[in-house]
Amino acid sequence: MKTEYDFFAIDRDNLKKKNIFPFQLYVFNPIHKKYSLFLNGNRPLTKELDTFLSYLLEKGGKLAILKKQRRTFLTAQEYHESEIPSLKSRELHELEKERIMNIKLKEMYDEKMGKFAFQSEFELACETDNFEKIIEFARVDILTFSVTQSHTISLALHLCKTHLKTDNFLNRIVATSYLFSKTSNIQDTEALADIICGAYLSHIGYTQLPLKMLRSPLLSLSQKDRKLFEKHTILGNHLIKKSMLELSERCKKIILDHHERVDGGGFPSMKNGDSIEQLSLIVGIISHLFEYSSGKINGNKQPIRSIILSMKNKTFSPGLEFNFGEKVFNSLVTLINTDKIEVKKAA
Ligand SMILES: [Fe+2]
Repeated sequence: MKTEYDFFAIDRDNLKKKNIFPFQLYVFNPIHKKYSLFLNGNRPLTKELDTFLSYLLEKGGKLAILKKQRRTFLTAQEYHESEIPSLKSRELHELEKERIMNIKLKEMYDEKMGKFAFQSEFELACETDNFEKIIEFARVDILTFSVTQSHTISLALHLCKTHLKTDNFLNRIVATSYLFSKTSNIQDTEALADIICGAYLSHIGYTQLPLKMLRSPLLSLSQKDRKLFEKHTILGNHLIKKSMLELSERCKKIILDHHERVDGGGFPSMKNGDSIEQLSLIVGIISHLFEYSSGKINGNKQPIRSIILSMKNKTFSPGLEFNFGEKVFNSLVTLINTDKIEVKKAA
């Protein structure tokens, strides 16, 4: 995994008028915050590629060279390192040093554990009621996040460093929401950090509600108490605003909208369809799954596997929700091989 610490930036002029180089040229994409190989070493920078490069640089891209090719670059382009500003050394911040170490740890972890298959690991975790491996994998992965990109990413990193350690109810929701998002092809770190902070903070509004209410199954509450319970989204949003915590707008939406449903039957604003962020629906569906499983909705504990089967078969049960949008819903119901249950039942 290559990061910004593996590269140094150069200007277009540093290529001089040459069109072939003994080093590789990379371009940093400021939107995706990624470095992509643009030209391999000893390959010609053709007129077409040169035009394309100019286009990328006009759009905000940055030319970069691998640090391990620093000497090759300086010799070939006849520069002293003092002439390249990005090569002037600076002391790394402690958090940056920690991140470099975490990236190395992640590489060692991957090498030791092999490819992590979320679907089968999730099935095993549900079967054994043990999410330690899911939580550990999410933690190792999240600890490689950038420490300089945004407040929400830094907060996600901090929350995971301090809290994502033990197998508990909230960590199950956070780690599963995170890995479910990655499996659903959400790779952008900003979006993943929104999911992490959104999952951790979506129930901060509970702190303003009576404990007795929170200990009672939702369906057993009176109409009046149910309305009060539904206020936890607005209360959470209010607390975040008052705290002056710097969170992205999308993350604040997750906290406010995690109970909105695409049919308009959710709360607090009865939003519908595409007006609800996909990330809010993801935190919504994963929270609902664990809440339903723990008995927080109808008072009966139920295995996650059988809840997903009920959702897939549209078996309506009191309090069980389905309206998370086709994409998110389909990703969830295919997460578990429900055929196994049907075979077991048939046998
Ligand atoms: Fe909630």
